[in-house]
Amino acid sequence: HDTKTHPYLTSDKTSFAYISARDRWPVIVTGAIDDLYRSTSQCDDAAKQDEGKKIVEELVHLKYELQHDRNLTPIRDDGGADVTLYNHELEKLGTPSWFSIPWLYCERISTSFNLSSYWKSYDVFSRQKINTFRSSRPAVLELAGRYKDLVTQMQADKNKTGAEHEETQKVLFFEMCEICLWGNATDLSLLTSLTYEDIQKLQGSEARKASEKNILVNDLGAAYEVLTKAKSEGKAERRVDIVLDNAGFELYVDLILAGYLLSSGLATHVVLHPKSIPWFVSDVLPGDFAALLGALASPKTFYETPSEDEKLQDKSPPPLADKEASELSFLFQEWATMHAEGQLILRPNTFWTHPGSYWRLPTEAKDLYEDLKTSELVVFKGDLNYRKLTGDAAWDPSTSFVEAIGPLGPGSGVNVLALRTCKADVAVGLKPGEDEELRATEGGGGDSGARKWAWSGKWAVVSFSGGK
Ligand code: F6P
Ligand code: MG
Repeated sequence: HDTKTHPYLTSDKTSFAYISARDRWPVIVTGAIDDLYRSTSQCDDAAKQDEGKKIVEELVHLKYELQHDRNLTPIRDDGGADVTLYNHELEKLGTPSWFSIPWLYCERISTSFNLSSYWKSYDVFSRQKINTFRSSRPAVLELAGRYKDLVTQMQADKNKTGAEHEETQKVLFFEMCEICLWGNATDLSLLTSLTYEDIQKLQGSEARKASEKNILVNDLGAAYEVLTKAKSEGKAERRVDIVLDNAGFELYVDLILAGYLLSSGLATHVVLHPKSIPWFVSDVLPGDFAALLGALASPKTFYETPSEDEKLQDKSPPPLADKEASELSFLFQEWATMHAEGQLILRPNTFWTHPGSYWRLPTEAKDLYEDLKTSELVVFKGDLNYRKLTGDAAWDPSTSFVEAIGPLGPGSGVNVLALRTCKADVAVGLKPGEDEELRATEGGGGDSGARKWAWSGKWAVVSFSGGK
């Protein structure tokens, strides 16, 4: 199952696909090379070091082939169940070159690691993920305080009823989802153009309020209805699934949303879906979940121990106030208990890193599909998930979201909610003429033929499809 509308290609010079291949990938691969070079030179096992150097060379070679627009070569059999799928896809596409390929198919770089003995589970993006999470400190602390107040308040208001109380609940749901949405604006693959200061500005509550007008489509009301309806029907098990995107700050806000859904009783279970291999660039791996809980478990150690770079510059981070540390510990207690009691579950599936779009989910990952049908609501985080939902196709932007997600639309049995800040070309569900208006804004692309407004994470779409 694929869209009839053609997908974005790296050969289309007006697309972000092309800009990504030309400008972003070299920076990202260079970052991976630097990271691995650093780890290799720090390790004292000679065999491991040699193997690390070999992987560095392979990455350098990959960068060369990309920048010289060579043809893609089949992925070597690294034991991944997806290798045949990727190679079959490549063959079907006629083994194209790096600058003439559908964007969705060409961002897997894990083979060299998988084939190694010592670096199998090494995540080249891990260092960057942790550093960026540490530098999100102001927003992390602000949200921790807010979360604690909220949960305490919710417990006190438990038996309240009435129209006013219901309205407050709804407003809260919107706020939590919007926190979760904007947490996606700061993925590391766009870090090539943002400074840490920009990131901090993007993450604060003021920024969030100011950004409300930038949500072009907002279907949160429909999602809220699904959850309140299931609750009022007295269903014993009401699950929400979150198909995760990035680690660090975004995972933190995903947990804020998950914890809120459980504490408020809007869900009885939350299932989180991470990736199985390191993915563009900052996507959550199961280990990132553990690392985040670990950081919150001992917040002083996490925030007060100087990073590698700080050590080199002889700097040390400011200490954490006791109140701040205790608010972070509160979060840890809450989430660790939910996890231990089986309310908060991590469920990886290799489908999330397969080539191809989610149009193929019902036929290619039957068990996963059946599983998602038993959920009240499946939340898809971030840009890449949105591209995969819509087949990354060049839809007319006034096409409805339910049409653009094809087999996962009405009748699929899956309630879909996409929380996406726009960082690519594809956009659907807009009012007629809205795309043109956005293009006419400053930096929106004008008459260049490029939908530039949709590239930077400034605008967002929150789209719902009722599949039941
Ligand atoms: O380069 C690919 C990509 O996955 C794009 O979808 C997007 O520009 C970015 O990288 C990832 O964004 P997100 O982390 O929100 O999926
Ligand atoms: Mg991502």
